[in-house]
Amino acid sequence: MIFDFPVEIIREGMVNIAVPKLEAFKRGVWDYAPSRAPVFYNPLMKTCRDIAVLALQTYQNLAKRELKVSEPLAGCGVRGIRLAIEVKGVGAVYINDINDKACRIAQYNIKLNGLEDLVFASNEDANLFLSKSAAPNKRFDFIDIDPFGSPVPYMDSALRALKDSGMLALTATDMASLCGVYPKVALRKYGGASLRTEYCHEIAVRLLAGCLAMMAAKHEIGIRILLSHSTDHYIRLYSSISHGARKADESLEKMGFILHCFKCLHRKAHLGMPAVDLEAKCSKCGSNLKFAGPLWLGSIFDMEFCKKMEENLNRFEHLGGEAKRIVPLIRDEADAPISYYVIDKISDRIGLPTPPLKSVIENIRSMGFRAMRTHFNSRGVKTDAPSSIVIEAVKEAAQKIA
Ligand SMILES: C[S@@+](CC[C@H](N)C(=O)[O-])C[C@H]1O[C@@H](n2cnc3c(N)ncnc32)[C@H](O)[C@@H]1O
Ligand SMILES: [Zn+2]
Repeated sequence: MIFDFPVEIIREGMVNIAVPKLEAFKRGVWDYAPSRAPVFYNPLMKTCRDIAVLALQTYQNLAKRELKVSEPLAGCGVRGIRLAIEVKGVGAVYINDINDKACRIAQYNIKLNGLEDLVFASNEDANLFLSKSAAPNKRFDFIDIDPFGSPVPYMDSALRALKDSGMLALTATDMASLCGVYPKVALRKYGGASLRTEYCHEIAVRLLAGCLAMMAAKHEIGIRILLSHSTDHYIRLYSSISHGARKADESLEKMGFILHCFKCLHRKAHLGMPAVDLEAKCSKCGSNLKFAGPLWLGSIFDMEFCKKMEENLNRFEHLGGEAKRIVPLIRDEADAPISYYVIDKISDRIGLPTPPLKSVIENIRSMGFRAMRTHFNSRGVKTDAPSSIVIEAVKEAAQKIA
């Protein structure tokens, strides 16, 4: 291996990959080495890549055609190479990175895995790379945008380089903006205000989806969210697209706002734009309402897609435990109501110990409402019950253990 920085071979999924030796770039125990290395590789994103393998296989099973795949911001190439080897029905993968060292290590990795006829590396700006594939006969079936921070700068070119009914995956790591720490940045980047609520990760997904819907509409393209997921430091969205002005209009009909009362935890989805007729006062307690949006109020999981993904999960035995934990949770919540409650927050407010989530869910159900866990938060509950019922359910469960 001829690289001017320390490199090691690791195994991820079913591939061997040369990556920067992260230990060599660490300045201390708590230092975050991936951002210091000359080429990016983050072992913590393995789950994200595992789920990408599953999602692409599920998409291929449904599309029933050989797929042309691209990863315009590929780093060392681990994701694209995994997609080429682990997903059946992939005809070609085009990986690209603006960093020439990344491109060189990706080329090495292609050879290391004997994929010279299936995976092709290039060294260009992602938007330039995508624009070269915007002509109808050159478009991709699947594009995976996995940048530092926000995917918004690449979304327009990705939409133009994607076939009708193709699938687009987006990663966003700018969680502070999307989760309400910097609502103005979210408005600037995503076209909607974020809000610092306990379910801000779901709001983040909906802001990203809303931004995609608005951007796609300009090209007379509609979107359908097949899957989304969130961990502490990133969110991920998988959407299929459909060409046509009517499809775009249908997508825009799913845009709206989430109104939130910080006093009694009441929340309400307000479908439609513009916002001039948004309620100002909480219908439950009279306090001022805050809002997030405009954002996507349509579904953020497709039940059929999630079920098929779970079936595939059983066939992909090599995938990591975290993917095995998340995928069934996502399937469980695929048709759940908008937003969720975090029971620790409620216990804090009422000054009681946090009860087991299971008993809170049982209590809500016994009062005649739907309730289920959510992958967004291990202490979260999704329900169609009003906030007063959720608080009551937490109180009852907490009193039993107090
Ligand atoms: C988060 S890393 C990609 C990680 C990779 N997708 C994976 O799964 O390991 C983002 C990459 O984007 C590349 N990059 C940044 N700006 C770019 C641009 N304008 N065009 C192409 N690549 C870019 C960086 O060099 C970096 O390798
Ligand atoms: Zn209220």
